[in-house]
Amino acid sequence: MPTWVRLAELAAAVLFILALKGLSSPKSARRGNLLGALGATVATVVAFYYGQKFFGGPIKNVQPILAAIAVGSLIGFIAARRVQMTQMPQMVALFNGVGGGAAAVVSVIEFLTAANSETTAMLTATVFTVVVGSVSFSGSILTFMKLQELMTSRPVVIVAGRYITSLAGIATIAVAISLVVNPSNAVLFGLLFLSLIMGILLVLPVGGADVPIVISLLNAFTGLSVAASGYVLGNVLLIVAGTLVGASGTLLTRLMAQAMGRPLTNTMFGAFTAKAITNSGTGEDRPVKSASPDDVSIMLAYARKVIIVPGYGLAVAQAQNTIRELVEILSAKGIQVDYAIHPVAGRMPGHMNVLLAEANVPYQQLKEMDEINPEFAETDVVLVVGANDVVNPAARNDPSAPIYGMPILNVDQAQQIVFLKRSMRPGFAGIENEVLFDPKTSLLFGDAKETLTKVVSALKAL
Ligand code: TAP
Repeated sequence: MPTWVRLAELAAAVLFILALKGLSSPKSARRGNLLGALGATVATVVAFYYGQKFFGGPIKNVQPILAAIAVGSLIGFIAARRVQMTQMPQMVALFNGVGGGAAAVVSVIEFLTAANSETTAMLTATVFTVVVGSVSFSGSILTFMKLQELMTSRPVVIVAGRYITSLAGIATIAVAISLVVNPSNAVLFGLLFLSLIMGILLVLPVGGADVPIVISLLNAFTGLSVAASGYVLGNVLLIVAGTLVGASGTLLTRLMAQAMGRPLTNTMFGAFTAKAITNSGTGEDRPVKSASPDDVSIMLAYARKVIIVPGYGLAVAQAQNTIRELVEILSAKGIQVDYAIHPVAGRMPGHMNVLLAEANVPYQQLKEMDEINPEFAETDVVLVVGANDVVNPAARNDPSAPIYGMPILNVDQAQQIVFLKRSMRPGFAGIENEVLFDPKTSLLFGDAKETLTKVVSALKAL
């Protein structure tokens, strides 16, 4: 391999590492993303040119490959430009599934064309890629369907589900081992089928608030299968990139599970042992106190300390600029205002940080959960803008709740609580929130952007 190829591969690997570093903070995330894209471009161009016959490489069918790159790039470009920020998790799921599926297909082809004569180590890597890539593919497609509401997003527990899943798992491992010991094309396709079923069985019982965690886990799976396919193809860069994705995906999965206060096994298999969720009413038959934008503006204007709790609904309403304007008005009146950021508010890690950074909210105003929780008791008004599960005390006191154990923002300790939401519908986890019925709570119904705009106008008129 010529030195320039080695150097270009090293540069791409360094770019991937710098990309991950950049992505760890909202300030540098955009640059990190660009560096990662640059690394992927360098890697693709180098692999393609060096692989061509021109350099004595094995690449044939150049035209179909170029056509596939063009079609794939076009679809990716259009999808990324059109996607709403709130639909990002399902797009990640889809792209991730395609990555796992591609790694599995590459290994199947390697097996069919060359693997029968390969070493045990090579066969093991091939079989690993087929299994993990296929699980990631079918599992990711199912999570996409759940998040896109093409099917129920609740846990689906089939009859004898835990036994069927265990049996399918044992069968997959047994067939995988037999394939390494005794390679056969028919058994390979059997393994492919079993692995695809396994992906579906693993994701079916995961629902509601846990789906984003599964996306992250499947992302780690895709990384590992890509790394193994790098070993199969003798491509060092694929091993590096796959390992980075596998490691970062695993860390992210752990962090998200920790933020929700539950072990990962509970996220994946909790539905098999959980009682049915009974706490999913709409609450329409219980009285609540509703408020007008004028009422809310007066409450805010006479407060000394206000905390804003942003959630998924803020992103849906695209009200980030309006909330920033409201906070500026309150700050100008000498009122102390902070944003309370829950680690899993919204639908993806750092969702609220990214959203508020987009509206130029200064980072110093954003306070993490542990830092701000002791402050609620001395807060006059908490404005909960499109958040629900992250402030739901069921996480503390209802062991049957799907979010039980998740640390929450203690908004119920504040003097007054105002929820901005459109209806009495529950949040992502599908459970009622007792704080909505607290006598200290007022509800300002409507789309958050519209109601916030009215509150801002009322404040200006005071
Ligand atoms: P949710 O509990 O989903 O609540 C969102 C609220 O926004 C709902 O009460 C909804 O009520 C309201 N809403 C929706 N559209 C609105 C609009 N246009 N205007 C005003 N309100 C609107 O959100 P959350 O509190 O941010 O919690 C996030 C959930 O995702 C948690 O269950 C969390 O565990 C889960 N989760 C997140 C992550 C990450 S990494 N962020 C990872 C795993 C799980 P209406 O429909 O009545 O308006």
